[in-house]
Amino acid sequence: MSRIVVTGGAGRLGRSVVTQLAEHGHDVVSLDRELASDLRATQIEVDLLDAEQTREVLVRERPDAVVHLAAIAVPGALPDPEIFRINTQLVWSVLDGALAAQTGALLLASSPTVMGYGAPSGWEPRYLPLDEDHPTAPWNGYAASKVAMEEIVRMAVRQHGDTTRFGIFRPCYVIAPQEWDGAVTQQGHTVAERIADPTLSAVALFNYVDARDAGDFVATWIARAHEAPNGSTFFVGAPDALVEGATADAVRTHLPALASHAGDLAGHESVFSSARAERLLGWRATRLWRDHLTRQTVPQEATP
Ligand SMILES: NC(=O)c1ccc[n+]([C@@H]2O[C@H](COP(=O)([O-])OP(=O)(O)OC[C@H]3O[C@@H](n4cnc5c(N)ncnc54)[C@H](O)[C@@H]3O)[C@@H](O)[C@H]2O)c1
Repeated sequence: MSRIVVTGGAGRLGRSVVTQLAEHGHDVVSLDRELASDLRATQIEVDLLDAEQTREVLVRERPDAVVHLAAIAVPGALPDPEIFRINTQLVWSVLDGALAAQTGALLLASSPTVMGYGAPSGWEPRYLPLDEDHPTAPWNGYAASKVAMEEIVRMAVRQHGDTTRFGIFRPCYVIAPQEWDGAVTQQGHTVAERIADPTLSAVALFNYVDARDAGDFVATWIARAHEAPNGSTFFVGAPDALVEGATADAVRTHLPALASHAGDLAGHESVFSSARAERLLGWRATRLWRDHLTRQTVPQEATP
């Protein structure tokens, strides 16, 4: 058993990460400015923008690993300069505290939005499926803060070598367990509504991941981070696309700018490849929407 600090443990993704880490037998501490009910963690209320307080708490807790999720997590929730400032300041604060506490491993949540899809001036991928080697092209303050975070992590690897293991994961659109049963998702629609109206998911290239699978990824990374190059980035998504029918057909219909590469997507394959996580860490998402969306919420035409 290890002692793991999760920042933002009270959040949407944080709750599942905390649960999965507890399931794996870890002793979990959540640092958040909000307290959640029924969280399987010791909860400490802290404003992580306060670097001094963050350092104090982390040095006191002496975790074996830190998972940094706390952020302004929705593009456009605040003006671009504010989101960029807050999210990068949170990274500096947690990085400083984790290093002061001599933490062995620090995993940080980035986002697939770093790719740049949805840019008002247009966006075309170089190839599909997208992988971690594809160039980033952020077009809003949120995505820019995630690219900055990824660079800060690479900087830290150069500064500290292998004394600390660093990792970055880009979780796809997180679907919490209750959302399969009809609770609204982060963007205010149910999953069934997203399936019924593909334009809702097309804006994020039909990506998704069950929050428990994302939590399992975190537990897997903590166990096996030493097997991957330090500072590695991972897409963490379901292997299939959140849309009915063949992904290539959905891409041709709803994402014409990507159509020239659609033929490279097989069957229900996701537009985002999580193959690196499988190759280097042995992790693969197992909870697929076709198995988990409860029958009564499936739109009429999708029921057998
Ligand atoms: N939900 C998704 O689909 C998704 C997809 C890609 C990436 N991510 C990333 O995953 C992480 C978690 O996302 P989420 O959906 O759980 O977000 P969320 O908003 O539900 O949770 C974020 C948590 O961070 C906490 N927090 C924010 N500022 C804080 C501060 N100054 N001090 C202490 N706590 C603070 C909030 O109280 C909240 O509990 C974020 O970094 C987000 O960018 C999420």
